[in-house]
This record gives sequence, structure tokens and C-alpha cells, in this order.
Amino acid sequence: MSKRKPLIAGNWKMNLDKLTGKKLVEDLANANIDYKKVDVLVAPSSILIQPALCSLSKIKNSIIVAAQNISHEEKGAFTGETSAAMVAASGAKYTLIGHSERRQLYVDTDQLINLKVKKALEHNLSVILCVGETLWDREASAAVETVLAQVGKGLKDIKSLTKIVLAYEPVWAIGTGVTASPKDAQNMHKAIREYVAKIRGKAVADKLRILYGGSVTPINAKELLSQKDIDGALVGGASLKSEDFLKIINFDKK
Ligand code: 13P
Repeated sequence: MSKRKPLIAGNWKMNLDKLTGKKLVEDLANANIDYKKVDVLVAPSSILIQPALCSLSKIKNSIIVAAQNISHEEKGAFTGETSAAMVAASGAKYTLIGHSERRQLYVDTDQLINLKVKKALEHNLSVILCVGETLWDREASAAVETVLAQVGKGLKDIKSLTKIVLAYEPVWAIGTGVTASPKDAQNMHKAIREYVAKIRGKAVADKLRILYGGSVTPINAKELLSQKDIDGALVGGASLKSEDFLKIINFDKK
């Protein structure tokens, strides 16, 4: 097991609504979770952040709420965007940045992602910076190179990594039911950690949490999360049902 406290994060994407989101967070908050052993995070769409926090505030729990994305701009005429300041003011403590759906569908480039990371940190938000190769990259034996380049560019000029979590999500494993094998995932996580050690020093790399994402389920969670360099999971589909998500949160309990 790794020395770092695992973080199990649920990315709801553009799913759930006020009622179903409320039910899900209430189920999680009422469940028996040992927060000394695991951190738990949910990332609803921005409009559901406040209702989720409101429901959570009524029950004793330590669930963290995150946004799924922020603008790299401070404020102004950017129709449809949500600023880091707005997310922070809504009570969220984290934001995802650079999810592959943002990279692929909304052309979030590495440069833009780096600006978003800086903007989030300026507003005291912690960041889950997502990276991952496409199937094309993997088949071209360029997976490691691609992922390390995304890490390097995403973290460019970021002085401290204390508020940064990385999430390795191979694009071909997202929403496909195909997971990276625990061995392949571990190899990539190790490569990421070694790279961070090279650019930022071993002490920083040793503390950095690196999550795995891509078709994580209650069935495969334990083996993935038992790998030395895998410090948690970023879960999509299986985070939408409290029963499944709780099994992943409690992966260590069986
Ligand atoms: P799935 O767990 O549905 O594959 O989604 C993973 C993901 O994209 C989490 O950010």
C-alpha cells in the first residue's frame, strides 16, 4: 500500500439533477466511511455545487465538493463560463482541470490547462489535473511520452504542488468498460512519479497523489488501488450510484 492517503473522487460529468444529486450525496454522507483512511470527493456540474453542499451540511461527513472545470479568465465577457472565484465562493474546494473530454471536445490545450491550474491556485482551489493518452498514442508506443508531456506542460511554472493531485485517465479506458491492467496502470503511475521527482525533487513526488481513472468499478477497484503508485480513483459512471461508489470508497474493507 502506498504511504499517501487515498482519494476517491466521483466525476458526475453532465449527469444527475438537483434531486438525484441530493439523494446521492445524502447516501454518501450517511454511509459509514472512515475519513481517517480515505478522502472522498464529488464533482457535480457547477450548478449543483451549492445544492450538494447544502445537503451535505446537514449531515456529519467530510465529503469534498469539486467543480469539473473553470475558466482560465478572471472575469468578464465570457458567455457560458464559470470563474475560479465563483467556484471558490460557491464553497467548492477543488476543481478538475484538463479532463480528456475537455481536451477532446472543447479543445482545452496544454497551454490553456496550465492557465486554468494557475487560476485555480490563485483562488485557493485545489486541482485534480487530468492526463492520459489516446489509443492512437498507445498503439504508437507513445503513451508515456504523451502523458509526461501533459504533466510537464500542465504544471509549468507552478511553484508548489501541495494543492495538486494528478489523475491518470487513459482516454481509451474512459466510459468503455475497458480498464488499464493494474500492471500497466502502475507502470504509468510510476513513470509519472519518477518524472515529477526529476523536475521537482523526490520529496515532492513522494507526497503527490496520483489517481487512476477509466472504467473503475467495485470489481476492479481493489486491485488497481493496491498498486504502489496508485493513490486513489477518479470514477465516472460508477460514481453515480451510491452503492457502487461506496464499494469503491471502501475498497480496502473486504
Ligand atoms: P468512467 O469511470 O465512466 O470510465 O469515467 C472515468 C472518468 O472520465 C472520470 O473522470
